[in-house]
Amino acid sequence: MAVKSTNITEVAHRIDIQARWQANGHRGAVLWFTGLSGAGKTTLALELENRLFNKGFNVYVLDGDNVRHGLSSDLGFSHSDRTENIRRIGEVAALFADAGAIVITAFISPYQSDREQARQAYPEGFREIFIDADLEVCERRDPKGLYEKARKGEIPDFTGISAPYEAPSNPDLTVDSGDLTVDESLQILMDYVEETFVLK
Ligand SMILES: Nc1ncnc2c1ncn2[C@@H]1O[C@H](COP(=O)(O)OP(=O)(O)O)[C@@H](O)[C@H]1O
Ligand SMILES: [Mg+2]
Repeated sequence: MAVKSTNITEVAHRIDIQARWQANGHRGAVLWFTGLSGAGKTTLALELENRLFNKGFNVYVLDGDNVRHGLSSDLGFSHSDRTENIRRIGEVAALFADAGAIVITAFISPYQSDREQARQAYPEGFREIFIDADLEVCERRDPKGLYEKARKGEIPDFTGISAPYEAPSNPDLTVDSGDLTVDESLQILMDYVEETFVLK
């Protein structure tokens, strides 16, 4: 997005990023979970956060419903509002990562172009992680009863029913959360984080 303000100059921090990483024992990262409602993004993000925290990681989850109560409380679910929501999350996640954290974002983020834009906010440490359960599985789980409501026409623009979901064409990691157990899915995620972001 173009910058509207004039007369702004970026300042440089006096703590370099390597020092932050050394203090944490790992690099900063944005683990961008994407998938249908009910695929397991929140379940896996919160338990991954828990496990990483207990191992001493500086880690934080940004989750869809929470963000929509605050930062994005002015936005709905139209295409343009979703795009703006993801833009904000991408920028906030990048700030956390720049501060040295491993940020796990749990948003449907149905549009490939929005996810690409989020990647541009923190290209070096961004990983697109496809939490992959298909519509049939998600609808059967329906943990919040939303599919049932959407099928009755009570929720407009519901991803998978009346709004599109563009699956990642080239994700950095796919977790087959439709077939695996929660524990198996978490093991894949833990291994990935430890291999990719822990300082050797
Ligand atoms: N492998 C798995 N990974 C994540 N969740 C799973 C898995 N298997 C079954 N589930 C169940 O699927 C549901 C996913 O819901 P949720 O995490 O809220 O999804 P989302 O945040 O993607 O909308 C939960 O009830 C969870 O217990
Ligand atoms: Mg969720």
